[in-house]
Amino acid sequence: MLLTRIDHVAIAVHDLEAAIDYYRRAFGAEVHHREVVERDGVEEALLEVGGSFIQLTTPTRPDSPIATFLDRRGEGLHHIGYRVDDCAAALAAVVEAGGRAIDEKPRPGSRGTVVAFVHPKGSFGTLIELVEEPA
Ligand code: CO
Repeated sequence: MLLTRIDHVAIAVHDLEAAIDYYRRAFGAEVHHREVVERDGVEEALLEVGGSFIQLTTPTRPDSPIATFLDRRGEGLHHIGYRVDDCAAALAAVVEAGGRAIDEKPRPGSRGTVVAFVHPKGSFGTLIELVEEPA
């Protein structure tokens, strides 16, 4: 089994402050990590849930993939991040199984991770992110 845990569940939102505030008031959730990822045009806030994270994500610019998603689909579940020990090996395995790589090879993600995305077409409608923790 190449997946070692659910790393995060990503939720696209219009207003990051409002979403953080809602999770705080509703569940007592606190922000574990917050980061602007310039490359992806997103700002994200991670809320820890039992060793995994809810990742609230909002666009920082109009050409961000999250902005496109929000325009087309509205707020909601965006992708699942699966933790793996070896991102390159997991990406090769998913492509071998018929998945469609968005990233041809692993690249830097947030928190110092190494990540690769797999297209929802070919993965039963779910955008998948493979997440390798820094050594
Ligand atoms: Co993610």
